[in-house]
Amino acid sequence: MNRILITGAKGMLGRALMEQRPSQYDVLGVDVEEVDVTSVRDVRRCLAGFRPDAVIHCAAMTDVDGCETDPDSARRINVEGTRNVVEACGDARLIHVSTDFVFDGRRTTPYAEDDLPAPIGVYGSTKLAAEDCVREAAPDHAIVRTAWTFAPWGRNFVLSILRAAREQGRLRVVADQVGSPTYAPDLAAALWRLVAADRGGTFHLVNSGVVSRYDFAREVVIAAGMGDVPVEPITSAELNQPAMRPPYSALANTKLPALRHYREALADCVARLGGPDLEAH
Ligand SMILES: NC(=O)c1ccc[n+]([C@@H]2O[C@H](COP(=O)([O-])OP(=O)(O)OC[C@H]3O[C@@H](n4cnc5c(N)ncnc54)[C@H](OP(=O)(O)O)[C@@H]3O)[C@@H](O)[C@H]2O)c1
Repeated sequence: MNRILITGAKGMLGRALMEQRPSQYDVLGVDVEEVDVTSVRDVRRCLAGFRPDAVIHCAAMTDVDGCETDPDSARRINVEGTRNVVEACGDARLIHVSTDFVFDGRRTTPYAEDDLPAPIGVYGSTKLAAEDCVREAAPDHAIVRTAWTFAPWGRNFVLSILRAAREQGRLRVVADQVGSPTYAPDLAAALWRLVAADRGGTFHLVNSGVVSRYDFAREVVIAAGMGDVPVEPITSAELNQPAMRPPYSALANTKLPALRHYREALADCVARLGGPDLEAH
């Protein structure tokens, strides 16, 4: 294992992977400006030129509501894009990043790796179709499902909550969605360990701890010293977003070592944001 290619390298997870890239690897990070995964030509040219030993495929259309309202783009990027990467990969190892949204959320205990997926929206359906493509056509692969990712950068729940707390002074947050918040830098470190471990199969990688969006939002404002900001619990029906979300999508890591509790990771995230304005870096 020497040369590692990362797609979606400027995204939330991609940036964490790039920051932590181990010095023993020759790592190339590309995003849509350099390699649009929907372009067979772009993908082939990149893979043939760099000849990676492993690819960590993070590029995706991750806007859940955007996927619902523009399913053609979601399929093109998440399914065709993944197929293009799989086909260009040849014998290279493929680490494919997937999501808790492949599950329908009717359970009340964390989903294990072998539980049956049944997505309820376009984002989850396209990510599941991408998983199927990887399983069928990538001889050496690891599929890593994660959930509710946050970081001091990028588009994520923690930064949205902090921005809304600052700008509006009060919050309304859904209490009927429960999941596994996961710190992108913790996930990135675990993914680099997985590259070194050379293990194949389907894995769940999330921080420990299960929480509703409402309770998590309260923890976020308290961690950031804004505990006096009122947080009102609401239902998903009241929020009326274009895409339905699974009501319960916590994941169980039953195959890989557990990651630390999300609360410890949240404290690190807030500390890293720093400064009185808590601006994203
Ligand atoms: N965020 C979460 O809560 C979450 C939860 C579970 C799983 N995941 C999975 O984790 C992986 C990484 O997601 P993330 O959180 O880092 O999301 P992200 O910040 O949206 O990163 C995805 C990256 O892919 C890029 N991209 C979009 N279309 C592309 C294309 N056609 N060709 C090449 N690159 C393209 C995006 O660019 P633009 O920003 O310009 O579109 C972005 O830089 C994804 O597979 C996602 O499904 C995320």
